[in-house]
Amino acid sequence: MLTDYWYIACPTGRLRGKPIVVNLLSRNIVLFRDADGLPVALENRCAHRGMPLADGKVVGGRLQCSYHGWCYDRTGCVVHVPSQSFSDGCRNESAIRRYRCCEQDGYIWVCPGVEPRQETPQKFPFLGEHGWTSFRLYNRFEAPVESCLENFLDCPHATFVHRSWFRSPTDREVRCRVSALEDGAVAEYFDEPRERSLVWSLLSPQQGGMQHSDRFIAPAMSRVDYVFSEDRHYTITSSCTPVNDVLTDVYTVVTFRYRKIGALLRLVFEPLSRKIIAQDVRTLRKQQRNLAKYERSEFRIIEQDVLLPHIRRWRNALSEGRVPAVRTEPYDVRIVI
Ligand code: FES
Ligand SMILES: [Fe+2]
Repeated sequence: MLTDYWYIACPTGRLRGKPIVVNLLSRNIVLFRDADGLPVALENRCAHRGMPLADGKVVGGRLQCSYHGWCYDRTGCVVHVPSQSFSDGCRNESAIRRYRCCEQDGYIWVCPGVEPRQETPQKFPFLGEHGWTSFRLYNRFEAPVESCLENFLDCPHATFVHRSWFRSPTDREVRCRVSALEDGAVAEYFDEPRERSLVWSLLSPQQGGMQHSDRFIAPAMSRVDYVFSEDRHYTITSSCTPVNDVLTDVYTVVTFRYRKIGALLRLVFEPLSRKIIAQDVRTLRKQQRNLAKYERSEFRIIEQDVLLPHIRRWRNALSEGRVPAVRTEPYDVRIVI
């Protein structure tokens, strides 16, 4: 389990005056805001007699249990026990587990392990930058993180799962260059034919080429870029939060610029994106439910599953506490799209 990393727990707007509960890597965690408005993440279990602290309330920036009123500060220390009129110290012996927590890019991030290996969470590219328009999507996938990443960074499924909507088969062979990076791997596609699908007929110019790249950012992020020109660029970044072994919360930020009419374009782009990602949610649900019926879990991986081996190699290495050796030479794969 990759516990020592930042994962999105919820969008910033969900955490206001009341405590809320989130699940990350099978841990039940309560979130609230302290007196300075900063997010706090604690184990959702009162040290006294185990009440869920998310049932309590925030009093003066401290979290008060709903059963006998014990109060916890941002470090998880008990600072008030009403039945003993004890207050304003810190009862370390009664402290509960605290998790590292921060706010970035409109999300609350929590590290479910001891110490995050990266100081700050991975940024969503171009988000909030001048001239760029963004919208956010949230989806719960009935699939582990790895399967989600393998889906988001998999070109050949698009002509089947998203046929007509996002990609239509052209039977053209394109070159894909795969390169290892210091934090993952990237697949860049060259000479891709112009798409005839609904999305691209709306979003792309009638003439000219397209630069497309799929990038895996370890341990749990995917980034897909489509660049048509300086002022027509689409980036779809998804951050995967493992809820447990079989469920993943996926937070997607779509950021794009399209001349000066990005805001207008969003009106069609957003519902289309929702439709397309819902197709992936259904596909992965079927795949996982089917896999669960069989004891065999190995896949027949082919060369055109370009980033899948990189995703696995990275995640396996990180879960063993090491960084994979980077294969420095880029290599080409031919894919019929
Ligand atoms: S169970 Fe929380 S104060 Fe008693
Ligand atoms: Fe897809």
